[in-house]
Amino acid sequence: MQLFNHVQSRSFYSSWQEKVLPVLNRKRTITLIAVSIFALFTVYGLICRKTRLNKMRAELLNKNDQVTTHQDKAVHALKDQIVQNAHASAHPPTLKFGYMTIPFLEEKETQKLFQAVENFFSTPETYQEQFAIPDEKEIGYAQLTEKKWFVIRNQQKIPSELEIFMDYIPKVHAQALKILGDIESQMNFPPGKLTDMVSKTPLPEFAKATSVLRLFSYDPSEQNGLAADVHEDLGLLTITLCPSVPGLEVLDFTSDTPHWLALEKETTASQATVLVGETVSKITEGKYIAATHRVTKNPQRRFSIVYQLRAEPNAQIQDKEVEMTVEAWINKQKSFRTSVNSLY
Ligand SMILES: [Fe+2]
Repeated sequence: MQLFNHVQSRSFYSSWQEKVLPVLNRKRTITLIAVSIFALFTVYGLICRKTRLNKMRAELLNKNDQVTTHQDKAVHALKDQIVQNAHASAHPPTLKFGYMTIPFLEEKETQKLFQAVENFFSTPETYQEQFAIPDEKEIGYAQLTEKKWFVIRNQQKIPSELEIFMDYIPKVHAQALKILGDIESQMNFPPGKLTDMVSKTPLPEFAKATSVLRLFSYDPSEQNGLAADVHEDLGLLTITLCPSVPGLEVLDFTSDTPHWLALEKETTASQATVLVGETVSKITEGKYIAATHRVTKNPQRRFSIVYQLRAEPNAQIQDKEVEMTVEAWINKQKSFRTSVNSLY
């Protein structure tokens, strides 16, 4: 009986093999073909998508593949117009092109400020961390992998090394307001159209000022690459003191072949770099172009002193297209624009 069962089971197994295996093999072959076709279509789709995205990106960025941030087409059209006018008149770049170098402080004064920054960032880490505010990167001390910074925006607890900046902030604020006033008159705007958007008190006692002073320490790096990615500042104007170790580069689109200009390689300590921000670009309807800029890595430690003049959040932006507060407009920009600071 046992033997019979065994024979029966063997014969059942053989017939199962004969009937089922070919079906399974056929199914396996069909599945294999289907998976291969699917994989081919997926790869083809990805290649097409990449090509299409590259094409769109090139169109959007005036065929300049070095830029990675978004600018709208209207601004690009105006930029073309400004560049054409500049070529025709052969004038050197002015602030209308997004950036300008200005004479600013005495060399000694600038050097003192940089020395103060270096002194602070040379103190023990535990000391620096005393000035960090939990969950806050936009006031006081903060750090990322390759850089540290200290932000001053009110009469906060300041390390003694940085007290010198309490005198510098009103000075750089006044300088930025003066330049903003110049833009206002160049544009034939009614007095105050731009300058009234800014707080007259650069260093409030408690509340966080909208305008902000950032002191950076970038770690030395033997690798090429960027310490701050390509971007445009969202505020009104940015004034950066020219350091001895260069790093800031702006996109010069006034030549036939747009290229990165290492501005700080040619500047001295008595100069500062002024960059136009997106808010000015918006209000002047693109007549002033926001500076596209980046910061390169450097084999030496690099310090940077950056003042960002910003419009008050409740100031109004009004033109043919929009009527909204600065705060609402900035939030809209941030929804599709990468920002190195992630915040305004
Ligand atoms: Fe910037």
